[in-house]
Amino acid sequence: MTHSAHRVFNFSAGPAVLPEPVLEQAQAELLDWKGSGMSVMEVSHRGSDFVELAAHSEATLRELLGISDDYYVLFLAGGATLQFASVPLNLAAAGATVDYLLTGSWGQKAAAEAARYATVNIVADGAGSHFTEIPAPESWKLSEHAAYLHYTPNETIVGVEFHSVPDVSTAPLVADMSSTILSRPIDVDRFGVIYAGAQKNIGAAGIAVLIVRKDLTGNARKETPGVIDYATMATNDSMWNTPPTFSWYISALVFDWIRDQGGLAALGERNRRKAEKLYAAIDDSAFYSNPVRLDCRSWMNVPFTLADDSLDKVFLQRAAAAGLTNLKGHRLVGGMRASLYNAMPEAGVDALIAFMEEFERTQG
Ligand SMILES: Cc1ncc(COP(=O)(O)O)c(C=O)c1O
Repeated sequence: MTHSAHRVFNFSAGPAVLPEPVLEQAQAELLDWKGSGMSVMEVSHRGSDFVELAAHSEATLRELLGISDDYYVLFLAGGATLQFASVPLNLAAAGATVDYLLTGSWGQKAAAEAARYATVNIVADGAGSHFTEIPAPESWKLSEHAAYLHYTPNETIVGVEFHSVPDVSTAPLVADMSSTILSRPIDVDRFGVIYAGAQKNIGAAGIAVLIVRKDLTGNARKETPGVIDYATMATNDSMWNTPPTFSWYISALVFDWIRDQGGLAALGERNRRKAEKLYAAIDDSAFYSNPVRLDCRSWMNVPFTLADDSLDKVFLQRAAAAGLTNLKGHRLVGGMRASLYNAMPEAGVDALIAFMEEFERTQG
């Protein structure tokens, strides 16, 4: 993976680093997209060039994730927050019960949104362990007739990730994959709905991808706005209204880049290696620590603290001076967080580890 000298290693949790070839292509095409003499932002979404881009992006995503014809793939305006509000409107009839498995703050927020429309049953809540582990499946309290089971495969703030798909409920599984989608292969057939905001592994903020099993669509509540009604958006190829065309375009470039990298198996291998070496550096040191149980540590978001938090500020300043940016942890957790999405090159992780070792040697 290329990395120009003037670019920093950006560990932001999102909006996050994008692949350099994607940025370069967007730059090269900005004034003249496909010989049109216009940028992609300046053309109609109904024109043949954009319709072709939309079809190409869907086809590439289907190929990358192995999505069958049993599913619609939608590109929807807004982020994951709008998507988790849309889930109950689309899947839960009035008076229905919905199951939520909480392993961090995004799951909590999704459950709070669902509570506006349905009776929410909390299947299990990791808050008791400060979200440092996934509660044991034996302790999960599923409801008998849930409209769906919602969970967050990767909790971006606390860095807790499921490394397999929970297999406990007959209700359709709904997954907020915002911070893990496309980081490795997944078996889409295990899910009823997968959704993800774009600004981590897909592209630029402003768009979300939603993959929904076709038989789950068509039953949205009558008060559901058309722009978030899965059936309405599916029958209109995600263009019932004007889509965020530039964000969609960037997603299409990112999907092509992923395919050129060798697809999800190759990226998954690289992501596993990146995460393993950073966790090893943390665990091998008496100065840095990560509280998450080993079997549920995230490959994408690695929070860590310094033994002496009065050094946090100087750590961040020196890291930034060394070209390692956006390492400040989320305000709910404190300390540091290194996000290692697809576009973070392995060289960035190596540079971070070298910096951490040197910092510990001189300050620790
Ligand atoms: C797992 C997860 N879900 C939901 C969201 C909210 O996404 P958005 O801000 O795009 O609505 C985020 C944002 O970081 C996230 O990490």
